Amino acid sequence: MPAFFIKQIKPICFFLCCLPLVYLAVLFATDQLGANPIERITRFSGDWALRMILITLVATPLQRGLGAVWPFRIRRMIGLFSFFYVSLHLSSYVVLDQFFDWREIFDDLIKRPFIMAGMAAFVLLIPLAVTSTKKMMRRLGKRWKQLHRMIYLIAALGVLHYFLLIKAGWAEPAIYLLVYLVLMLLRVPVIARRVR
Ligand code: HEM
Repeated sequence: MPAFFIKQIKPICFFLCCLPLVYLAVLFATDQLGANPIERITRFSGDWALRMILITLVATPLQRGLGAVWPFRIRRMIGLFSFFYVSLHLSSYVVLDQFFDWREIFDDLIKRPFIMAGMAAFVLLIPLAVTSTKKMMRRLGKRWKQLHRMIYLIAALGVLHYFLLIKAGWAEPAIYLLVYLVLMLLRVPVIARRVR
């Protein structure tokens, strides 16, 4: 990778992570969200939440494969963007879809397993976002790594959430599942060594 990109990796990463949000804002501003704008926002933010979580998981195999440090320099930022897009997704459901109807939301949580899986993923992401700072990393030491391994479970819950909510068209969640499984396999020491 050219030296310029490595030097500017953080601003470039920030810019790229903002693009989905900018695209959504443009669709909104130009009235191009379609016949059901709320559904479009919820689905769009859900898609990007899951993509960002999976991109976070690419950092370690990439760093090991290339022997470069730059994937680790942007891992935290992508992780925080994952949290941002999940929060946007949850907000669109709570605010736009349910209009803060907490009873309805609670009913959904109990009756619809996909909401339960999504909510579990969101709740588990909170401690990761809160402890993402360098200060917390130092303070938690070894426990920080253990805690942040929860991202594997969160990603699995995100994929499960997608499988549970769709009634047809399994291709997209199946692709996410495949990506997830490959990323997990790349962490198996024997495979990781071979890739290196
Ligand atoms: C890590 C957490 C989450 C991830 C990764 C995630 C991801 C997704 C994805 C990929 C979709 C499908 C988008 C599409 O159809 O193209 C989706 C849809 C949806 N999610 Fe989530 N989600 C998460 C958490 C939540 C939470 C906490 C809630 C609400 C409590 C929620 C509610 C919904 C709803 C209502 C839909 C649309 C369902 C439909 O159109 O029938 N999600 N989500």
